[in-house]
Amino acid sequence: MWYFALLFALWLGRGAIGAQPSEVPAWLREYDFDPPLQCSSNAAGPLDPRDAEVMCPLPVDDETAFERRSWRPWTFPPVCITPEEEAGPKLCVYTYQKLRGDTGISILTTPETAAAGVGIVEDSDPKWVDWARGSPLVVADPPPYEFKELEGRGVGVIANRTIRSGEVVMLRHPVIVRHMDPRPWKQQDSMKLLHRAAVQLPPKDGLKMMELAHSKGGYVIDDIINTNAFGVLINDVDHSGLYVDVSRLNHACKPNMFSRFSSTTLGMEVVAYRDIEPGEELTFSYTPLNLMSEQRQSLIREWGFNCTCSLCASTHESAASDRRRGRIQDLLGELDRPEIRNHAAVEKRVSEILDLCEKEAMAAQVGDFYTIVAEVYSSMGDMNSARKYGELALKELKHFAGYDHDRTRSATMFLKGLDKKART
Ligand SMILES: *[C@@H]1O[C@H](CO)[C@@H](O)[C@H](O)[C@H]1NC(C)=O
Ligand SMILES: *[C@@H]1O[C@H](CO)[C@@H](O)[C@H](O)[C@H]1NC(C)=O
Repeated sequence: MWYFALLFALWLGRGAIGAQPSEVPAWLREYDFDPPLQCSSNAAGPLDPRDAEVMCPLPVDDETAFERRSWRPWTFPPVCITPEEEAGPKLCVYTYQKLRGDTGISILTTPETAAAGVGIVEDSDPKWVDWARGSPLVVADPPPYEFKELEGRGVGVIANRTIRSGEVVMLRHPVIVRHMDPRPWKQQDSMKLLHRAAVQLPPKDGLKMMELAHSKGGYVIDDIINTNAFGVLINDVDHSGLYVDVSRLNHACKPNMFSRFSSTTLGMEVVAYRDIEPGEELTFSYTPLNLMSEQRQSLIREWGFNCTCSLCASTHESAASDRRRGRIQDLLGELDRPEIRNHAAVEKRVSEILDLCEKEAMAAQVGDFYTIVAEVYSSMGDMNSARKYGELALKELKHFAGYDHDRTRSATMFLKGLDKKART
């Protein structure tokens, strides 16, 4: 399991959050972007409001599908296994063969989670999504990279033209999503269900999946998931999501790519973190970007390889980096101290942290840092500065985490809270 993905885990959002352009009609300002989690919101979005429509699909399992002769929206009737102990939920496989008109997805989960997460397969109104994102999603086409066998390192992804910072080079949806806690069900039953999840996929997706690396032995699809999957949340429940192609990117401590998830669609975008020359390998960091070298190395050892990038291999470089990262932690700690809570003292620390983040190529984390600063100012009663940093946070989080990520959503709520305070 890629740990960083867990930290950036998906929140299966109900509806989208975004900064509102100045001329929004009243009904849109009042639109409920956060209907109850159990239910799926209107996929057509707020640009096509159908009288506050909220659908609460009923859970469907193998028996109810047979009784009702319906298993909408799934392509096949679900097949389920029962838990070892009688009281627990069933585990079922749900396949949808034309996600976004393209790939198939098989979800191994409980009937309740499948019902709550059914919105994943709905197609949102593109106008609504563009509005929520702030700008339309453009995915580079043809792809600006090739998959190549690298000496001693398996397959890698190599740029075949110049890529500009911020370009979206890849967008994928998971082919298999699996409930992460295997305990309630028998291992053998789960593996049979997993096999079904794989064979129910459209053949082209199944074949692509089978080409992925596996390392630990056992049932091959289980092994492929354990080696390649990202953590995803469906209705707040932990799942592993297998994204073909995305998992081809190798690790780097100072990567040139980052990933951005849509919690509404489970779509994962691979985005350039900086400008890239043709011939460069495209890389991710498998760990959170802000770790100290020791934490980074031990996490990486858990995936069965040794970290060899300069930040791990060069003691000189990693010591300097650790010093800077330690300093960031100290400065953040200082922002909690009452005697530092005056404008000049806060700004001094803000500018030092920004400078350190730049040296450490930690731009992807600046949004979270702005969130902290906004809260510091808010607690000091300096609402203008709180708003300024809240808006900066929202802008950064939209770019690096995604428009419907829970951290972006919190930033939006924070700004709304300031509005409310300003009105009263
Ligand atoms: C890069 O490789 C892709 C295949 O992955 C191909 O479609 C594309 O045309 C190539 N671009 C260039 C500039 O060679
Ligand atoms: C990683 O390094 C350790 C210590 O140097 C060594 O024992 C181990 O075999 C290495 N592992 C791999 C996968 O190369």
